[in-house]
Amino acid sequence: MTKVLMVCLGNICRSPLAEGLLQEKVNAEKVQVDSAGTSNYHIGKEPDSRSIAVANKNNLDITQQRARQFSVADFDEFDYIYVMDNSNFADVISLARNAEDEKKVKLILNELYPNEDKDVPDPYYGGDQGFDNVYKMLDESTKIIAKKLNS
Ligand code: 4NP
Repeated sequence: MTKVLMVCLGNICRSPLAEGLLQEKVNAEKVQVDSAGTSNYHIGKEPDSRSIAVANKNNLDITQQRARQFSVADFDEFDYIYVMDNSNFADVISLARNAEDEKKVKLILNELYPNEDKDVPDPYYGGDQGFDNVYKMLDESTKIIAKKLNS
């Protein structure tokens, strides 16, 4: 089993979409996807209603997800850790214990735009259009990740 973790700040907007989008594209018997937030702001909460809505619009159900906080144990549990932005990257890397931990951490948009170190913009304080934009970016990135994992 290959295990992939999607990480953002709150684990209610971006990473729940990334989790759902990758899970629907891979063989669930071979690949398990989870998500977490670097913060403790929303532990136990369901995804933001705007993430649920954009997912629903695209026939993806993320309502069963509940927010949790990233922890050092996740470095042992997961093979790949995709972060949504550079701030998440710094936060996760700061918890890494060694080079092996560090090697697992990647900016998700580098799958789509190699080496450009782009952020998936935080849509929390914006409007619904931000969520459509985030959905598209994550759909494209997870297609590339799924192709690698399924091959
Ligand atoms: P996320 O979005 O990191 O994509 O889940 C956010 C959710 C909540 C907050 C910030 C970003 N917040 O500050 O509460």
